[in-house]
Amino acid sequence: MAEKTFKYVIVGGGVAAGYAAREFSKQGIKPGELAVISKEAVAPYERPALSKAYLFPESPARLPGFHVCVGSGGERLLPDWYKEKGIELILSTEIVKADLASKSLTSAAGDTFKYQILIIATGSTVIRLTDFGVQGADAKNIFYLREVEDADKLYETIKAKKNGKAVIVGGGYIGLELSAVLKLNNLDVTMVYPEPWCMPRLFTSGIASFYEGYYANKGINIIKGTVAVGFNADSNGEVKEVKLKDGRVLEADIVVVGVGGRPLTTLFKGQVEEEKGGIKTDASFKTSVPDVYAVGDVATFPLKLYNELRRVEHVDHSRKSAEQSVKAIKASEDGKAIEEYDYLPFFYSRAFNLSWQFYGDNVGDTVLFGDNNPESPNPKFGSYWIKDGKVVGAFLESGTPEENKAIAKVARVQPPVENVDRLAKEGLSFASKI
Ligand code: FDA
Ligand code: NAD
Repeated sequence: MAEKTFKYVIVGGGVAAGYAAREFSKQGIKPGELAVISKEAVAPYERPALSKAYLFPESPARLPGFHVCVGSGGERLLPDWYKEKGIELILSTEIVKADLASKSLTSAAGDTFKYQILIIATGSTVIRLTDFGVQGADAKNIFYLREVEDADKLYETIKAKKNGKAVIVGGGYIGLELSAVLKLNNLDVTMVYPEPWCMPRLFTSGIASFYEGYYANKGINIIKGTVAVGFNADSNGEVKEVKLKDGRVLEADIVVVGVGGRPLTTLFKGQVEEEKGGIKTDASFKTSVPDVYAVGDVATFPLKLYNELRRVEHVDHSRKSAEQSVKAIKASEDGKAIEEYDYLPFFYSRAFNLSWQFYGDNVGDTVLFGDNNPESPNPKFGSYWIKDGKVVGAFLESGTPEENKAIAKVARVQPPVENVDRLAKEGLSFASKI
C-alpha cells in the first residue's frame, strides 16, 4: 500500500476543491505541495450544470465544458491545468478513514495520505427514500442527482424512455429544476411534494404560485400535500408505479427523487466540533482541530451579517469559502491575518426561460411586488423580507444584471422601510434607489 505526503490536502473534488486549488495557485505553491483527493473520476466541475444544461435534449453540456472555474466567469481548470501547476489530482479515490490526530487519511484501496494542513470539502450526499424504508424504493430507474455519474445514468434512461412518464418526488431545488428539464425532454411529468407549495424553504406562497402556475401551463402535473409511500416494479425490476400516501397510484417509467441533502461529515465524527449538522468553523473556516479547515456545504460558519452560525448549501458560498480558507492558510504562514468572512447569502435557480436570484435572509414579513401572473408574456416580480423595520432579503425573477445587483445591495444595506404599502408599489424601483 502506498503512502504519500503533501503539505496541503483537499479531501473532496467538487466545487469548493476546484476554487481552493485555483486560490492556492494564485497565492503561490510549489509543485508537489498540494493534492486534491476525490471519489469522482473527473476533475472539479460546476455541479449546478447537472440539473440544467447537462440534461438538455439538444446539445447538452458535457465535460470538459463546465470544469471550474467557468461558473463565476473564470478560466476553466482542465485536468492539464493541475498537472502544469504541480497539483496532484487523485481521482476515483474515496477516503474511508480520517485520523486527524495523526494527520492521516486512508483510501478505500488502502493507500495512506499524510498532510500538514487539511481542507475538508466533501460536500453533501442525497437523502434516499431507502433511508427511511419506503417500500420498493430500490427499484431500477429511481434516480437521485448529485454527481456526473448520476446524471449520465439519468440521461441514458431519459433517452431510453422517450415519451414516457416521469414522477418527481420532492418540491425543492431538484424537484423544480428536474421536472422542467424532463418536460423539455418530452416526458409526461408529475411532481409530488408534501407541502402546500413548492420550495417552502425559501418561497412565499405568492412566489410559489407563479412557478406552480407556470409549470402547470407547461403541462406539468403537480400533486401537493402527500408523499410517495411505495413503488411497484415490473419483472425486470424497473419502476412502474408510485404509490402515494393519499391512495393515488401514478404510472412511472422514471422517478427522480430530490428530498434533500446531508453534509458528508461522517469521516470526522467525534474528532471535530460540529454545529447545526455541519463542521463548526471560524470566519477563516478553521475547525476546532488545528490545521484542519472545512469549506462549502459541510461548514457551519459565522455569518457575520446575522451574527449567527449557519450552513449554506449553495455554489456561491462553496466558491467563496474555499477562497477564504486558502487566503487564511497562506496569510497565517506569513504570520498575518485576513479579514473575516462577511458573506451575503446568494441563491439562484434557472428552469425553462425563468431565472431567479435571492440575496440575504428570508425571515420576517414579506411584500410581493411586480407581475407574478404566470400567463404574462414577460412576467417580472419579486419579494422583500422585512425584519425589525428593515429589508433583510430580496428575491427577483427575470431580473437584468443591474436589477439583480440592486436587490443584492438592498439585502446588504438593509434599508429601513417606513411604509409597507409604498414598498409594494415601488417594487424594484425601491432597490434601484439604494
Ligand atoms: P461538492 O458536492 O461540490 O463536492 C464534494 C466532493 O467531495 C465530490 O466530488 C465528492 O465526490 C467528494 N467526496 C465526498 N466524500 C468523499 C470522500 N470520502 N473521499 C473522496 N471524495 C469525497 N447551488 C446553487 O447555488 N445554484 C444552483 O443552481 C445549484 N445547482 C445544483 C444542482 C445539483 C444537481 C446539485 C447536486 C447541487 C446544486 N447546487 C446549486 C448546490 C451546489 O452545487 C453545492 O452547494 C456545491 O457543489 C457545494 O460544493 P462542495 O465543494 O462543498 O461540495
Ligand atoms: P431541498 O431541501 O431543496 O428540497 C427537499 C424537498 O423535498 C422539500 O421541499 C420537500 O418538498 C421534499 N420532501 C421532503 N421529504 C419528502 C418526502 N418524504 N416525499 C416527498 N417529498 C419530500 O433538497 P433537494 O431539492 O433534494 O436538493 C438537494 C441539494 O442540492 C440541496 O443542498 C440543494 O441546495 C442543492 N441544489 C441546489 C440547487 C440550487 O441552488 N439551484 C439546485 C439543485 C440542488
